[in-house]
This record gives sequence, structure tokens and C-alpha cells, in this order.
Amino acid sequence: MLFNILSLVLLSITTARCQTFDGKTFLHYTSPATQFTETLPIGNGRLGLGMYGTPAEQLILNEDSTWNSNFVNRVNPNAKGSWQRVRSEIVDNKWFEAGNDGLRNMVPEDDEPGRYQNAGFLNVDMGQEQSGMSNYVRWLDTINGITGTNYTYSGAQISRIAIASYPDGVMAMRIASDQPFSANVSFSRAANIYNSTATTDGGKNVLLTYSGSNSQPGGLDFAMQGRVVVDQGSVSAKSSNLTVTNVKTLDIFMDIETTYRQSDYKGQTDTVLDAAVSKGWNTIFSNAVQDHSKIASAVTMDLGTTSNTSLAQSPTDQRLTAFKSAENDDNELMTLVYNFGRHLMISSSRQGTKSLPANLVGLWLDELTAAWGGRFTVNINLEMNYWAVGAGNMAADTQISLFDLMDVARPRGDQMAKDMYGIESGIVFHHNLDLWGDAAPVDNGTRYTLWPMSAPWLSTHIMEHVRFTNDLDFLKNRGLPFLLDTSAFYDSFLFEYDGNMVTGPSLSPENGFNIPANGDKPGYQNEGMDIAPAMDNQLLWQMYADIDEAYQRLGDPNNTNATHARDMQSKLRPNFLGSYGQILEWREEYVDTTPGITHISPLWGLHPGKQFSPLINDTLAEGARKLLDNRMANGGGANGWSRTWVASCYARLFDGVAAWANSQETLKTFLLSNLWNSDSGPGSPFQIDGNFGYLSTIQEMLLQSHTGIIHLLPALPANVSTSGGSFKGLLARQGFSVDMSWDQNASLKQATITSNLGNELSLRLTNGTNIKVNGNDYTAPLQTTKGQTYTVTLA
Ligand SMILES: *[C@@H]1O[C@H](CO)[C@@H](O)[C@H](O)[C@H]1NC(C)=O
Ligand SMILES: *[C@@H]1O[C@H](CO)[C@@H](O)[C@H](O)[C@H]1NC(C)=O
Ligand SMILES: *[C@@H]1O[C@H](CO)[C@@H](O)[C@H](O)[C@H]1NC(C)=O
Ligand SMILES: *[C@@H]1O[C@H](CO)[C@@H](O)[C@H](O)[C@H]1NC(C)=O
Ligand SMILES: *[C@@H]1O[C@H](CO)[C@@H](O)[C@H](O)[C@H]1NC(C)=O
Ligand SMILES: *[C@@H]1O[C@H](CO)[C@@H](O)[C@H](O)[C@H]1NC(C)=O
Ligand SMILES: *[C@@H]1O[C@H](CO)[C@@H](O)[C@H](O)[C@H]1NC(C)=O
Ligand SMILES: *[C@@H]1O[C@H](CO)[C@@H](O)[C@H](O)[C@H]1NC(C)=O
Ligand SMILES: *[C@@H]1O[C@H](CO)[C@@H](O)[C@H](O)[C@H]1NC(C)=O
Ligand SMILES: *[C@@H]1O[C@H](CO)[C@@H](O)[C@H](O)[C@H]1NC(C)=O
Ligand SMILES: *[C@@H]1O[C@H](CO)[C@@H](O)[C@H](O)[C@H]1NC(C)=O
Ligand SMILES: *[C@@H]1O[C@H](CO)[C@@H](O)[C@H](O)[C@H]1NC(C)=O
Repeated sequence: MLFNILSLVLLSITTARCQTFDGKTFLHYTSPATQFTETLPIGNGRLGLGMYGTPAEQLILNEDSTWNSNFVNRVNPNAKGSWQRVRSEIVDNKWFEAGNDGLRNMVPEDDEPGRYQNAGFLNVDMGQEQSGMSNYVRWLDTINGITGTNYTYSGAQISRIAIASYPDGVMAMRIASDQPFSANVSFSRAANIYNSTATTDGGKNVLLTYSGSNSQPGGLDFAMQGRVVVDQGSVSAKSSNLTVTNVKTLDIFMDIETTYRQSDYKGQTDTVLDAAVSKGWNTIFSNAVQDHSKIASAVTMDLGTTSNTSLAQSPTDQRLTAFKSAENDDNELMTLVYNFGRHLMISSSRQGTKSLPANLVGLWLDELTAAWGGRFTVNINLEMNYWAVGAGNMAADTQISLFDLMDVARPRGDQMAKDMYGIESGIVFHHNLDLWGDAAPVDNGTRYTLWPMSAPWLSTHIMEHVRFTNDLDFLKNRGLPFLLDTSAFYDSFLFEYDGNMVTGPSLSPENGFNIPANGDKPGYQNEGMDIAPAMDNQLLWQMYADIDEAYQRLGDPNNTNATHARDMQSKLRPNFLGSYGQILEWREEYVDTTPGITHISPLWGLHPGKQFSPLINDTLAEGARKLLDNRMANGGGANGWSRTWVASCYARLFDGVAAWANSQETLKTFLLSNLWNSDSGPGSPFQIDGNFGYLSTIQEMLLQSHTGIIHLLPALPANVSTSGGSFKGLLARQGFSVDMSWDQNASLKQATITSNLGNELSLRLTNGTNIKVNGNDYTAPLQTTKGQTYTVTLA
């Protein structure tokens, strides 16, 4: 008898413990989160939550437009009369004077735009204690977009499963048990709750909290509503809490709506939740899963099998620790980080009404104050978020929100051009945007504040979107108008210097130099402002190239705007090489104050640009490598996002060993236990850009197409996996989908290329290795037939 009971107990424990998770697609843990950066995040692009899995559950709730203020016009009225003087000072080598003049007269009095904020928390207290929880597992399914916690409590099998549905516009959690339970359910927020109520009137079990950006209504306000549905037992309201008694399933549907999008924001939560409750959990759940998994599984990635299968199935935090502490071949963890990055993109950036792109924290935040305001930092971070979506076959579903923000910012940028620079036509943004598109300068330093170049950078996402999606309606109606508005500003802003058209006052984000001997304060360290920084020239080069390409794609190549763009492009300042052969960062070779600076702005032309590709200009490619190596030799790549940019640059130089090593370093140095990227390692703030930058590096190692050539395995080192690897579903810019496999020496096994548009297929394999297409030697680009597949093998 005793034996039987024992074996029964053992059996149930074994059953629970034997639950195996696919080490490439699941995160899982054996204990509750103890802090924000251990929670497991899901989202539907607009709404997001993080699950703690603590005895009393606490879901972090987010909505992407809960920011701390309405729009404030911050322009400094002195700027209009000052900026040309600042330019002259720089031309006259008075860098120090120009820096002070610029900061004094061009920076707004109020130098901070809006900040992103947490919306609140959902608390579900079942009266449980951690000591009573066993067989505990907390998990996240990156393909289906579900997170959950399963455990045993007093003999009851309990699960908490949460989803965020894009099709139904809600978040929901189901708590289910095989034995009846009771729970108290409530909302909370750290500040600014206007009122909070709970009712069961008319059979609707409602939690409703009003809050917003101020202590009083009238700022950016929002309503957060929850609906409780139970299968049995009862629900009662007390003050602002609901109590459920003797239920076996407890479903909580949630919506948050703000005045950013809805004047009747509370009414909108009613509409959304009435619909969700009437559909019920099963429908909402399967709609959410179907939607998320369709995008997630558009690409399948396999970077190689982890030789220690028990390691691959270990809890994620243990795998990460093992990866950090010693060399191992847990390539399935590298693949998991890839799939997690895709999951984060699908969860934080979808199309909608005035949708917002993934901000500095995607949309997950547990506080009212985020590092750098959680804003859209547009001198690298926001753009990095979207580098991978094109080749990753997610652009159509995720990148529109970036264009929505750009369109919100466009009239602000138009006003800014007029008010700050006295330029009547065209738009200008500086190095941050908030949800209102506030285009004024931010913070107060010569290395970052007065940089009028983010609109050109953002505008390069337009043609990238079109190259991967072939969405010509978007190009004609939204993309090209934005590009033309952007370029119009530079018609007035650029000036002739040394025979070229250049920018200024500007800077090279976020590097500083020592003022040279011919300057007004020789040796002064950390000046930032100059004219004609290399990155500005590269950004404008690409912007003009994109306008030209846009008109070509629209069948109007001789449009005067295209001719004008080509003409302007030919007048730009070229790239120069410095004393050790490196790409020059500034107008002349100054001494870097911070040679290991995390920003690699002058390498824009290598990645995400293409001017420095070894397939286009070997001299510039070599110059790019010299500068990159020098940054790294001086401690570069010291932020998570920076490290992924460095890795992608090495991939663009076809240096697979360095690209892979730096990608591994992203995991070793910067990832937190829930696989979120951090600024500078555990203990530093979560920042999502590195998760997305990592996606781009992995893709750049396997497939490149930015020069017009489909380059297979351009930068995968030979020794990363004894099992080889494969992917399915990556896209190339010329209208092709690619599936590919390789062997243990990173040597091509086979690529299957589908022609989606019937374009010409120009191919290259690693180092120019000979190949066959459909069994015939490949010697020159092939004309393809739409819908046909082409099989590439080694010759
Ligand atoms: C910015 O810095 C300049 C120079 O240090 C100073 O004069 C100005 O008051 C500062 N502006 C703000 C908004 O802090
Ligand atoms: C719910 O809260 C009430 C007090 O408001 C408390 O008596 C009860 O034990 C709580 N129930 C659970 C399941 O925690
Ligand atoms: C958790 O519980 C749910 C609902 O019972 C079940 O579908 C799921 O398979 C469980 N997951 C794990 C990891 O135990
Ligand atoms: C709660 O606050 C909102 C927003 O100010 C207001 O519209 C609503 O009438 C208030 N409700 C109660 C019950 O006070
Ligand atoms: C409502 O729930 C919260 C969080 O569980 C708890 O702190 C608070 O005391 C509850 N209020 C009432 C009136 O039960
Ligand atoms: C395989 O991984 C498990 C779990 O991390 C570990 O305990 C074991 O030592 C590893 N085996 C080898 C041979 O490294
Ligand atoms: C050129 O661009 C401007 C917008 O900057 C637009 O108004 C104009 O119609 C365009 N010209 C032609 C010929 O398409
Ligand atoms: C554009 O101009 C070139 C040179 O004048 C001419 O050959 C070409 O046919 C024109 N293309 C179109 C589409 O009008
Ligand atoms: C490469 O770039 C350099 C510097 O701009 C230029 O002088 C050279 O002509 C370019 N080479 C090619 C092949 O385009
Ligand atoms: C692969 O080769 C590179 C370059 O030789 C070396 O640095 C790296 O340690 C090797 N990796 C493995 C897993 O052997
Ligand atoms: C991989 O490379 C090694 C060393 O060059 C060679 O011995 C081995 O045969 C290669 N394996 C395959 C599958 O080509
Ligand atoms: C390509 O060739 C270079 C130089 O011969 C070599 O160092 C590199 O390892 C090769 N790259 C790959 C991915 O095989």
C-alpha cells in the first residue's frame, strides 16, 4: 500500500518534470520571477504584459500610448537667428565657441520630450504561498505567443495561461485548476489613479481604473478595464476588487485605451471587452495563437543542434549561465534568442490606428520612468529595431507602425524646419521622437543634441520596406511623399563647402573629438559639433538613391524630382580615408576623445547602408574594417545594441568568425535571464534594440541581398556546429524567398530559391565558390519565372 502511494506520488512528479520543451522555441524556468527583467513578455503590438508567476500573480500591464504628457511645443525661438552663425563658427574652426553658442541658443529651454510609462498591474491573489507550490514551471512559447505558469498546489493542478490577441485587441489570462479555488482580483498602479471601481451589475464582472499622465484628468488619460468570467461558483465586488469563489476556471479579459487614439476611451474598452467576453476564452485564445504563429513561423531557423540534449532542455536561465561561464555548443540557445527576438517584434509592433513602433523597451515597462524615457531614440536605436524585419519576412506585419510614427512626426518636423531653421519647405527631426512626433532637440550636449539628420535615416526604411514587400501603393501614397518632404529640407539646409554640398551644424552621434591645433581652444576634449560628418553624407547619399529608385519602381525615372535627387547626390562629399586607412569620421582627422565609443556612426555605409560593401568598393570596405577593428581594440561594442551592430558590420565584411563571436558575446555579456537585451549587462536597464539587432546579425551571416546579388552563406564560419544547420523563409530584396541548408563545415548543402516576382536572379556563394542552379553551372544572372523554384548546389 505504502509502496503504491509512493509510486503514485513519484509518477505524478515524474510526469510533470518530464514535460520537455523545445530548446529552440521555448523559454522556461522552475521558479517565479523575482524582478521585472525575469518576467515573461507577450503582446499584441499595442497591449503587452509580463508574467511573474508569483504565488499572488502580478501581471505587468502596458499599452504603448501611456506616456507622461500631451504634446508640448519646445522650440527655442532663438534658434532661427543663431544656427547660421553657429555654422560660420565651425567653418572658421571655432569649434568651442560654436558648441556653446549652439547649446545656448538652439537647445530648447525644456530639453525633454515625453516619457513612456507603465499602465498598471493586474493582481490575482489565490491565497497561496510559494512553499506550497510544486512541479513548478513558468514558460514562454515564442512561436505561439503564449506565456504560462503550471504548478501543483495542495494536490490541485493549476495553470495560468496568458495571451495577447492582435485580431481581438485584448489581453487575457485563464487560471484553471482541477479543484475549486477562490481569488481576489484587482488593478493597481504606482500613481495618478483617478478612480477605480469593481461591479457585478447586469452580469458583467468589471474592474475599471481611470488613470493618466497627471494627478488630475485632462492630460493623456486612459481607462484600464478587466472582465472576469467564471465557469462555476460566484463573483462579488468589494470596493475596487472582485472576489471569485469556488471556481475551476477564471478568465480575465483586459483592455487599456487612451486619449491618444480614442476620445471615448472608456467606451472603446466596453466595445472591445463585450466582444471578447461574448466570443469566450477558447475563440480568443485560438485567434491569438493563429495570428502570432503565422508571422513567427514564416521563418524557421536552425543554427545547429546542441550536442548535450539535456543542456538544450534545461531551464533557460541555467542554459544562459552555462553559456556565459564556459565554451559550449548550445547553438539551440542562439536559435532560441533568434526566435525570441521575432516574438518580441510581433508582440510590440503591429499595424493599427495611429500605431506606434517598438520603443526603447518594446512596450514592456513596470515603472513610470524608463531609462532614456523609453523614447524613440532615432540616432540608431529605433532604426535598429527594424533592420531585420524585411529579410525576416515580417515587414508587412510589423513595420507599418514605424511609418505611422513617421507620419505623426511629419507635420511636427515641418513646423520645426520653419520655427527652428527658418526653412519653409521640408521636415527636420533631431535625435529623439516621442509619441507626438516631437521633433525638437533633446538633452543638452554637443555630441548628440543638435543633429538634424534622423528623418533621412528613418526614410531609408521606406525603400527597404518596398524592396522586401513590393508594396507599390505604400510607396506611392506614403513612402515617396515622406522621402520628398525629407529631401526638401536639405535643398535649403545644405551649403557649399570645399566644392561639395554638406550639412552643419551637425555631429557624429555620439562621438567627441579633441579640438585640433588650428581651433579656438586646442586640445579641448569631447567637442562634438562639426560640419559634414561622414555619417550625414552617407545618409543623404542613400536618401537620394532611394528617391531615384522609388521613381524607377513607379515607372517614372525621368521625373524632375528623380533628376534632382541624382544631381544632389553627385554633389555630396565623398568618404575619405585617414592616417591608418580608416574611414574618416569627421571633416578632417581629429583625435577621438573616445576611440572605443559604442556608436559606429561613420560605418553607416557598411551596415545598414551599402556603400562600403566589399562587392561595391573594396577600398572603402577595407577602410571600414580598419575603423571597426580600432573601435573594438579600444573597448567598443560595450552596449548590447552596439555589439549587435558591430557583429552585423563584420558579417557585411564577410568576416564570419568575428560576426559569430560578437553574436555569442551578445548572449554572454548583455542578455538578462529572460533573454531581454540590456544596456551593459545584468543590473543595467533592459533595452530591446539589441534583441532586434541580433536578428539582423544572424540573418546577415546567412543571406545578404543589399548589393543586388543574392549572397548565400556570406559570413558563416566553418566551425559553429557539428550538425550543420538550415533555415526556411528568409527573403531577399529582389523578390525571392530562400530556404537553405549547410553542413558541419558551413558548406552549402542546398538552397531552394522561389521567385516571387519573376525578377533576374544574381547569385553568389561564400567567397565566390562555384555553384550549379537546377544542375547547370551558374555563370551569369538568370531570368526567372514568377512562382518557379531554383535549386542551388555546389558545382
Ligand atoms: C544647455 O547648455 C548651455 C551651455 O552649457 C547652457 O547655456 C544652457 O542653459 C543649457 N540649456 C538647458 C536647457 O539646460
Ligand atoms: C480576499 O480578500 C479578503 C479580504 O478582502 C480575504 O478575507 C480573503 O481571504 C481573500 N481571498 C483570497 C483567496 O485571498
Ligand atoms: C500547463 O497547463 C495547460 C492547461 O492545463 C496545458 O495545456 C499545458 O500543456 C501545461 N503546460 C505545461 C508546461 O505543463
Ligand atoms: C472616474 O474618472 C473618470 C476620468 O476622469 C471620470 O470620467 C469618471 O466619471 C470617474 N468615475 C467615478 C466613478 O468617479
Ligand atoms: C484589493 O486587492 C488588493 C491587492 O490584492 C489588496 O491590497 C486590497 O487590500 C484589496 N482591497 C480590498 C478592499 O479588499
Ligand atoms: C549536459 O548538460 C547537463 C545539464 O546542464 C549537465 O548537467 C551535464 O554536465 C552536461 N554534460 C556534459 C557532458 O557536459
Ligand atoms: C516633386 O516633389 C514635390 C514634393 O516635394 C511634388 O509636389 C511635385 O509634384 C513633384 N514633382 C513631380 C514632377 O512629380
Ligand atoms: C528617360 O529619359 C531617357 C533619356 O532621355 C530616355 O531614354 C528614356 O526613354 C526615358 N524613360 C522614360 C520612362 O520616359
Ligand atoms: C571607391 O571609393 C573611393 C573613395 O571614395 C573612390 O576613390 C574609388 O573610385 C571607389 N572605387 C570604386 C571601384 O568605385
Ligand atoms: C572556430 O574558429 C575560430 C577561428 O579559428 C575560433 O576562434 C573559435 O574558437 C572556433 N570555435 C569553436 C567552437 O571551435
Ligand atoms: C569538413 O572539413 C574537414 C577539415 O577541412 C574535412 O576533414 C571534412 O571532411 C569536412 N566535412 C565535410 C562533411 O565536408
Ligand atoms: C573566405 O576566404 C577568406 C580568405 O581566403 C577566408 O579567410 C575565409 O575564411 C573564407 N570565408 C569563409 C566563410 O569560408
